[in-house]
This record gives sequence, structure tokens and C-alpha cells, in this order.
Amino acid sequence: MKKIRVGIIFGGRSGEHEVSLSSAESILKAINKNKYEVVLIGITKKGKWIISENPLKLLKSQVEKEEVVPVALIGEPSDRQIIPISNKKTRVERIDVFFPVLHGPYGEDGSVQGLFELADVPYVGSGVAASAIGLDKDLMKKIFRSEGLPVADYIVFKRKIWEENSKKIISKIEEEIRYPCFIKPANAGSSVGITKVHCPEELSTAINIAAKYDRKILAEVAIDAREIECSLLGNDEPEVSVPGEIIPANEFYDYEAKYHSENSRLIIPARSSEKKIHELQDIAKKAFKAMDCAGMARADFFLEKKTEKVYINELNTIPGFTKISMYPKLWEASGLPYTDLIDKLIQLAIENHKEKSKNITRYI
Ligand SMILES: Nc1ncnc2c1ncn2[C@@H]1O[C@H](COP(=O)(O)OP(=O)(O)O)[C@@H](O)[C@H]1O
Ligand SMILES: [Mg+2]
Repeated sequence: MKKIRVGIIFGGRSGEHEVSLSSAESILKAINKNKYEVVLIGITKKGKWIISENPLKLLKSQVEKEEVVPVALIGEPSDRQIIPISNKKTRVERIDVFFPVLHGPYGEDGSVQGLFELADVPYVGSGVAASAIGLDKDLMKKIFRSEGLPVADYIVFKRKIWEENSKKIISKIEEEIRYPCFIKPANAGSSVGITKVHCPEELSTAINIAAKYDRKILAEVAIDAREIECSLLGNDEPEVSVPGEIIPANEFYDYEAKYHSENSRLIIPARSSEKKIHELQDIAKKAFKAMDCAGMARADFFLEKKTEKVYINELNTIPGFTKISMYPKLWEASGLPYTDLIDKLIQLAIENHKEKSKNITRYI
């Protein structure tokens, strides 16, 4: 049988570049090489696409070598080729399916998915709209609310308004959100730019930090909660995994606690009543469908300690994919090993592309 050629794309211009390299490395190790032929496509921190050398090794060494030939996918559905930009080398690959392992902006946000759509290539994960919504905490919560899903109270404001009238913003937060609260850039990830604010003295600094990362900022009521996550897999009717719990090493699950601390722990499966687990799984599926996700997503919840009330915090459309990441671990605990998970995701990408290809584009 002819092997399916999978283009794994990783690295990229986001703050989660390094996480993406680890995710890609794990996928590369685990993918069934009898069935799939892998083409590694690295994106440097400056946004250059490379395939000519071992891009994973190159990106890990953090050099942007001049002699590496940058390549591009052209937004034209002729032959799904990766084409060298300079004509020094003429390596061209036809890609059957893309597997974007890009976290955060310029990858998880619909931008690269738009390119795949133009080039008419199947790709793993959500489409343009769901990806974009998934990376915008404000739009995502609005969609959840419209489906009646429980979301923590928040307000949203633009950086420009903050710069022009900070007093007004501060009094609005103090009236409607109060302390403690979380200040977040709307479009980011990995807790980058997020601060927990305990008192008025900390508020302005927190907003200024968030304003560095995005033009849209959220102030959200802090929930004293356990953090529970479920993995989703499928297209129109997703399956949901057992839940897992995160015990962050720090006061909240900040960047350091996520990636550097040895003391953050995952408890799989999360300890909870059958009833609560069903409630979480049901909300996870509804959230996936509300956003019209495809392929995969990780649903993150807050389970309020005092009341056991469930809040949906977010859906991640390209969750962390290292061997020790929550997304694959929850599937493993639900009976689906890592290699089979990758296989399933690629099959879902092909199915989704087939389904979309049924659309006609002319007026009848
Ligand atoms: N409203 C909230 N109440 C309690 N903790 C929160 C709240 N919002 C965020 N956090 C903490 O901050 C972390 C990161 O916030 P999150 O909104 O998930 O952003 P990211 O997309 O960067 O993961 C969460 O995992 C949690 O530990
Ligand atoms: Mg999160």
C-alpha cells in the first residue's frame, strides 16, 4: 500500500515555539512509519519555513541558518507542493495531509489552516473559524454563553481604551469583577501575559502586561477551583476521554508551572463522582460542537471547590502533544494508545476534507 505523506509542521512565530518542538518530536517518534511517510516542516521564530535539513534538529539548536533553503506552500490547489523559495535546490514534496503542531498565534489561530484551505489539502484539527475562535478568549466565551454553557464572569476592553482612559477601566473592573481577578490577553496561550490580581495595587501592572500581547484584554472573576480537563476526538460527533486533574505547582497554572516546574502534577483519571464526570463530558462535547471544532480539542474546566459548580474555561484546538501532555495521556487512560491516536487524527482529517469537498461552489 502506498504510504500517506504527512507534513508535520512545527515551531513557528508564537511564544509556544519550544513546546511545539517537543510536541512534534513526540509525534514523529510515535507515528506509524509503515503507514505514513513523514515530511518535517519547521517554521523558525522569524517565520521562515524549512525542510531542507533536519528542521527539528535545526530549530532545537535555535539557529536561523542562512544557507537553509526556505520553502513555501502556495495557496493554489494544483499539486499540494512545498516549493523552495530560492532556486538553489529543487526539492518539492506532495503532501497528502498536514499535521499542524503549532501552538498559539500563527498556527493554532486559523491562519495556517486558511493556507491549507486555499491549497485544498486535508489537515489535522479544526478549520479556520473554530481555530480563530479558540484562540480568542472573548469570542470563545461568547459562543459558549450563546449555547447556555457556564462561563466565569468577565469583561473585555481594548488596549487603546485602556491607554486613553485607564480610570474608567479600573472602576469598571472594581465594580463588576472585583478581587481577586485574572487579567488576560484575549489572544495568547500557555498562560503568557496572564496575571492573578489580588488587590487594587496590582491591577495596572497586570493590565500593562496583558496589553503587551494583545489589543484585546479580559478581566475575569477568579474562581477558587480545581482544574479539570477532558480530551475530545472526532468530527461532528466527538468522543470524550476520562477527565484529568491538574495540580499546579504555583498559585495558578502559569507558564512556569506548566513547563518548568517539576512540582505540577496530573492526576489521571480525576477523582470525582460519576455524575460530575458526566456533566463535564457533556459540556465538553457541547462546547466542541458549539465552536464547530474538528479532529481534536482539549476542554479545560474549573470545578469550584466550595460549590462543585462547573465552569468551562476554554477549548484548545491544538493541545500540547508531548508524551507527557494531558491530551494524549487522557486518551491512553481511556484505552487509546498514542500511536493509534495519531492514526485516528490523520484519518479524521481525511474524512473531514472529503466531507467539505462535497460542497458545490456554483449557483444552481
Ligand atoms: N477565572 C479564573 N479563575 C481561576 N483560575 C484561573 C482563571 N482564569 C485563569 N486561571 C488560571 O490561569 C491559567 C491560564 O489561564 P487560561 O485562561 O487557561 O489561559 P491559557 O490559554 O494561557 O491557558 C489557568 O489554567 C488557571 O490556572
Ligand atoms: Mg488554559
